[in-house]
Amino acid sequence: MVKKMEERHSIWIRVFHWINMIAITMLILTGFYIHAPESFRLFNSMTTARTIHFCMAYLLCFGVVGRMYYMIAANDTKNLIYEPINDTKKLPSMLKYYMFLADDHPYYGKYNPGQKGMYTGVFAMAIIMIITGFILYKPLTFGFMAGWLGGFLVVRIIHYVITWIFVLCILAHVYLDVAEGIPILKSMFTGKIPADFHHGYHEEEM
Ligand code: HEM
Repeated sequence: MVKKMEERHSIWIRVFHWINMIAITMLILTGFYIHAPESFRLFNSMTTARTIHFCMAYLLCFGVVGRMYYMIAANDTKNLIYEPINDTKKLPSMLKYYMFLADDHPYYGKYNPGQKGMYTGVFAMAIIMIITGFILYKPLTFGFMAGWLGGFLVVRIIHYVITWIFVLCILAHVYLDVAEGIPILKSMFTGKIPADFHHGYHEEEM
């Protein structure tokens, strides 16, 4: 029997997802090399690592601006941006489910409040990385902003600490995607999910 499929992610959601994933992964790898080339021997020289880092920086700018434009143009904001009052109310039932204290949870919409919190946070962190990165990359043009943040050392520390927060978010994101089920993972490639795929929630909306 052929499974009835429904659309989950438009082509633009998928394109920007993979652009941002490639940019962020390469920025993390080259960033760790720039930070500690002797311990993280993934590239053959500092010039290679820095060149890739700066190319990926522009790709990230494109990906972030493009995804934000699409979010507004396609009216996708309600799916991605955490609403402090509405979404916080939904958190306890979600946490109970993920802590194995409940068998199911109400239907939250396309993404649960935890996902929305993380996606909003990733947006904010990407913008902070772009600002701190360009201060370090073009100090003659953007260096004046370093003063507002407490100096170049503080800018470097922010850039480095957020790298680790990105690593933790990516690990949680990949683990949860795989744990939710292969159809969820496949949907970011094909855009489609089986119409009868309901994981972990009962029917009425919260
Ligand atoms: C998710 C995004 C990013 C990650 C994870 C990341 C990661 C890193 C890390 C770990 C370092 C080493 C920091 C240190 O040793 O103190 C670094 C350095 C740097 N990053 Fe990024 N970065 C990102 C985005 C950007 C962007 C958008 C730019 C903009 C051009 C940028 C420009 C720089 C520069 C100029 C340096 C210093 C390079 C040097 O001193 O040779 N980064 N980055």
